[in-house]
Parts: sequence; structure tokens; C-alpha cells
Amino acid sequence: MGKMRTQSAPWRAAAVLASVLLVGGVAACGNSDTGGGGTKDDGKITMGFSQVGAESGWRTANTISIKEAATAAGIELKFDDAQQKQENQIKAIRNYIQQKVDVIAFSPVVESGWDTVLKEAKDAKIPVILTDRSVDSADKSLYKTFLGSDFVKEGRLAGEWLVEQKKTASGPVNIVELQGSTGAAPANDRKKGFGEAIAANPNLKVVASQTGDFTRAGGKQVMEQFLKANKQIDVLFAHNDDMGLGALEAITAAGKVPGKDITIITVDAVKDGMQALADGKFNFIAECSPLLGPQLMDLAKKVHAGEEVPARIETQETTFTPEQAKEALPNRKY
Ligand code: AHR
Repeated sequence: MGKMRTQSAPWRAAAVLASVLLVGGVAACGNSDTGGGGTKDDGKITMGFSQVGAESGWRTANTISIKEAATAAGIELKFDDAQQKQENQIKAIRNYIQQKVDVIAFSPVVESGWDTVLKEAKDAKIPVILTDRSVDSADKSLYKTFLGSDFVKEGRLAGEWLVEQKKTASGPVNIVELQGSTGAAPANDRKKGFGEAIAANPNLKVVASQTGDFTRAGGKQVMEQFLKANKQIDVLFAHNDDMGLGALEAITAAGKVPGKDITIITVDAVKDGMQALADGKFNFIAECSPLLGPQLMDLAKKVHAGEEVPARIETQETTFTPEQAKEALPNRKY
């Protein structure tokens, strides 16, 4: 067995100095971590983003907007697709916390059940930005801001348009409703806004209401059931364009003319929806803009720099009739 060599005095001094420098370096990195995430030496901000999924044309446009805006803003984006499952989003957020990203942003699949993971992000001093959809947490300090649409307003605008169209109706107007994903803020809020608005006319009655999960396939399948179960359907209110587009197939297959036999109102105003509106197959769309990327990156820079940001930033939106859709379509970006 060989003997262990002992270090001479100069070597010992050099080793001590090296370890002091090393510990100092680690401590310096540690400081930036405790200051809120993992800004690297290049000063680049890293954002961990958890997306709902790829369920609709709106979602695809939203993902493109976020990815392009991150590149343009020089923000390193870690992107995760949750495939419409809350547990996947929670897992992704926990990964981002472990990786010590600078900012976490996400569009929550559903409204409830976020407090624990948001508290974990807060304890790790990583600011959270909600985008597109909000959460129902009572503790507003768990996130910095919410950037997105007023979904109740979208539902209300859809309902008010219908009230105006049917103001001279002398008998019942039977409405079927294709709801978005169960528990999602836009499904809850659009239902609420629409219901409140149509209460102004007692002739307007929702005779069936079911989720189509914000997808074309879901919209088609549920509309088929609605058509089988209800003799007279006068109006369809679909919580997004994709479900409305799926429903078009079911309506046509049932021998009815969409936009004429059944008045169709949707939300979003993506290109395919706008085309259906311009073609007279849809009758009205309340817009919901997916182009949130540039504002999101701006907010990320601000919260990372410790600047105050408004607690709520509402997206500016409009509504479309067939004539307005024809005009807007050539310049529609999504
Ligand atoms: O949260 C926004 C909604 O989610 C859009 O209206 C819908 O198309 C999407 O899936």
C-alpha cells in the first residue's frame, strides 16, 4: 500500500486560495438564484412556459405568437405542451422551478387547484405571469399579473347580438350551447356572460348545453347528439370557432343549412372561423385575440427587473358580422 503524500506549505496555500475563489464564485451564482431564478452570465432571461395544448386554431396561433415574440425579445423560452391536462402543467411548472428559470408563464387548463404549485414558485422567488386564462386563487400575491381577454364580456357580446336579432320573435327560440373544456375559465365565463345577456328576452332558451372540449371533433360529435335529441334547434352558441366548424359538418349532414336554418354564433375569429362567417355559414363572432406574445415578453422583462406591473391587462377585442369578416379576412394574421 503506498503512503498518502502530504502537501508542502506553498501548495497548501494555493489550494486554500483556489477553494476560496471557488466558494466565492458559487456564492455569487447562488445570489442571483435567490434573487429570482437563473439569469446566466450573458444576462439572458429564461422563461418557462406551460401551454394548454394544441386543441384549436386559436391555440396554434397563440403558441406561434409566444415563440416568435420570445425570439424577437431575446428571451430563452422553455416550452411545454400540457395536452390539456392540469397534472402535466403542474409537473412542467415544478420542473421550471427546479431549473431556476427567471420567469414562469402559463395559460391554466382549468381555473382551480393552483395554490400549492404557485406557492412553491413564490417560495423559490420566481415570478409567475398568467396569460390567456386566469386562476381562481384567493391569494393574488401568488402571481404578478394576468394578461388576457375578458371572457365574460365575449359571452355577453354574443348574447346581446342574439337578443337584438330575435327582438321580434313571438315564440320560443331554442338555443344549443357547445361549451369549452370543463372547468376552463373561457368555458365558465362565456357561459355566464351569454346567459346573463339572453335573460333580457324570455323567448331565448338554452335547451341543451354540453362540452365539446374546444375541439372540432368534440363540436361535431356533440352537435350530432344535439340534433338527434332536439327537434327544433334555432341557434348554436359555440364557445370557440373550432367547435362551431365541427358542428357545421353535423348540421350539413343532418340536411340543414348552417347560418340559415340554424343561426351560429362563435368566439375567437381565427381565419377558418372568419371564412365561415364571410361565407354565411356562421352569423356572428366575438373576437378573442391569441396574439399575446409581445406583451407577455414585455411583462417578463419588467417583472424580472423588479418593476411594478398592472395586476390585470385586458386584451382589446372586437366583434364581426359577415360583412366585417369579408373586409378583415385579407389582412387576418391568424
Ligand atoms: O383560452 C382561450 C380559448 O382556448 C380559445 O377561445 C379557444 O379556442 C382555446 O382553445
